[in-house]
Amino acid sequence: MNVIPSTVIRPALNVAGSLRLPGDKSVSHRYAMLAAIAEGETRLENFSTGADCASTLGCVRALGVDVDRSENNVLIHGRGPKLRPPTSPLNCGNSGSTMRMLSGILAGQDFSSELTGDESLSRRPMARVIAPLEMMGATITAQSGGRPPLQLTGGKLKAIRYHMPVPSAQVKSCLLFAGLFATGETAVVEPIRTRDHSELALRAFGAELNHEGNEVRIAGGQRLRAIQAVIPGDISSAAFFMCAAGLFPGSQLAIADLLMNPTRARLLDILILMGVGISVTQLEEQHGELRGTVKVEGRALKGITIAGADSAALIDEIPVLAAIAPYTEGGIEIRDARELRVKESDRIAAIAANLRVMGAQVEERDDGLKIAGGQKLRGGEIDSLGDHRIAMAFAVAALRAEGETRIRGADAAVISYPGFFDALETVVQR
Ligand code: S3P
Repeated sequence: MNVIPSTVIRPALNVAGSLRLPGDKSVSHRYAMLAAIAEGETRLENFSTGADCASTLGCVRALGVDVDRSENNVLIHGRGPKLRPPTSPLNCGNSGSTMRMLSGILAGQDFSSELTGDESLSRRPMARVIAPLEMMGATITAQSGGRPPLQLTGGKLKAIRYHMPVPSAQVKSCLLFAGLFATGETAVVEPIRTRDHSELALRAFGAELNHEGNEVRIAGGQRLRAIQAVIPGDISSAAFFMCAAGLFPGSQLAIADLLMNPTRARLLDILILMGVGISVTQLEEQHGELRGTVKVEGRALKGITIAGADSAALIDEIPVLAAIAPYTEGGIEIRDARELRVKESDRIAAIAANLRVMGAQVEERDDGLKIAGGQKLRGGEIDSLGDHRIAMAFAVAALRAEGETRIRGADAAVISYPGFFDALETVVQR
């Protein structure tokens, strides 16, 4: 992200109202990729409005798939398993999900392609997908340290049984997608269970998977068939609003039709443990994905420690939890979250630096942060570092600060939620 228009956030008194959010980013990526290699027309409503999912659509178009988009509705004319060789590099923009998951599908194609990304994506580690895809038979060259751009030559793949060294749903998804093209049964063993959207999506598109404990297996050669789906609201985007409501005792916020997949909804438990009132109604399921209406009631905020499996489950929500930590009674300690250092920015450093700009005391650690509670923050000049979740997290922290906060690079929010700042204004009261 190069352009950096800033946004000013003024303190608020309360959060109230109701919202419906654009479709979940993780689900949108997966449905778009699987629709591309399925047979038939996949119709997706409430597709993510984020630039990341637009990058995925751009890549699948470049691979010969017809995509019609009208606002949040997307129609994908699946080509079946054989894609068309691209005539130029596949631009994944800022999206690690696009690059890692699409690599799995490209590994099964009998042509070469190049995957590129923006400055942030060009710094992110890809060795985690390169190593297992090469074991399956793909040839991939990267820049030093396993960084993009990637030159990927696919072909005949053979199944492997792979123990993932880091918990990563993107790596798991990449290998399950590659497994569709492999001879034999591909098995992925996770150290900690990560989000299971790919498993659910593959089943929705007609594939069979076996799941036992932390191991998931997929047999190669399965054909996919198109689906119709309404994508539930993005729970990682909702996290910003839920935390904003949590900041002000007496706040009442409802978010309808929100993704409630248990592998993504750990934030609800954490907010309950922190004292926030949470209720979920109108639970429904489509294609294995749960959705529901979440009501949030602000109360005095307690502190918490996030560690172990929770850190993996909350990896995208930690920035906003950390940003509100100074306002809690007991503070927040985050451990086992080293992965945050290799996201769109080094999020541990970005959180620490920006909290300090607002006057907070913060202890930065290699794998996390310790932020004392009971601190008063003052408005300041935040730098998003071009990272969408940092921009949005500090917009939330700014709501309870003294004075105005300027967020430089606020437009990074377009990566996952272009309408974020407008939606925030509709629910804050001053
Ligand atoms: C995602 C998995 C997580 C997450 C990212 C989306 C996914 O990344 O941080 O925003 O959709 O699978 P990792 O797989 O690197 O943990």
